[in-house]
Amino acid sequence: MPNLKTPGPDRMTPAGRKKFFGFYKTHRSRALIGALQDMAKNNRKTLTTYLGKCQKINCLIMGCSHWANPRDTANFLRSFNKNLEINLAVIDVLPDALLESTKHNVDCLPLIAPAQQTPFLDNYFDILISDCLLTCCSFDQHEPVIKEVARIIKKRGLVLLGIVHSDKNITFKMSERPIKNYCRPLKDYQKLFSRHGFSFVPNSSTETRLPGKWRQMRIFNGLVIKGN
Ligand SMILES: C[S@@+](CC[C@H](N)C(=O)[O-])C[C@H]1O[C@@H](n2cnc3c(N)ncnc32)[C@H](O)[C@@H]1O
Repeated sequence: MPNLKTPGPDRMTPAGRKKFFGFYKTHRSRALIGALQDMAKNNRKTLTTYLGKCQKINCLIMGCSHWANPRDTANFLRSFNKNLEINLAVIDVLPDALLESTKHNVDCLPLIAPAQQTPFLDNYFDILISDCLLTCCSFDQHEPVIKEVARIIKKRGLVLLGIVHSDKNITFKMSERPIKNYCRPLKDYQKLFSRHGFSFVPNSSTETRLPGKWRQMRIFNGLVIKGN
């Protein structure tokens, strides 16, 4: 049973947690870099236009499973504007990859914080990246997280969103990544985001499927904008 008082993923055993973070070291395409590549596919023009006119942006990565995520993100964003200055913060409720990112001298501000209660000012971020954080936390956390995203992102700010969705509410665990996944229908995610002032950018997602017996679950990697 999820503990409703603890934000973040359901509790893992120490061995499970090691396996969870270890998975992203050996499967880099399943870490944030893979999601960003999928997000870029249908959105090159939007991202080039949006980032092309910025000199400096504030960017937040919500949920960090691998130490190189902030570096990969900065390189990704600069591929749309090579002169872009990026003020990059990274949060996770578990310190594992954040600690490693400081060991590897990755340039960012790492913070241990729940996504539903962050220390940031209102309307601070231009870009917010949330790849599978909602999939990793219980259904009751989804709306508080989305509400917090709405508070800290600027009007017209962009959320680069990765979510796994299904025909109905489903939870499941994959043996290679021992964490409980929470999936809801895409239209339910859209409703939740729209309740907090966001709209999904039409045709922005590259839809892929989970492997093997999880094929019925689809991955949305696309853009959501604050405002409409
Ligand atoms: C699936 S992983 C992120 C995957 C992403 N592709 C990456 O490579 O970083 C989800 C991360 O979100 C964190 N997380 C889940 N729920 C959270 C919450 N409510 N607040 C903060 N972090 C959370 C987990 O600890 C985990 O590290």
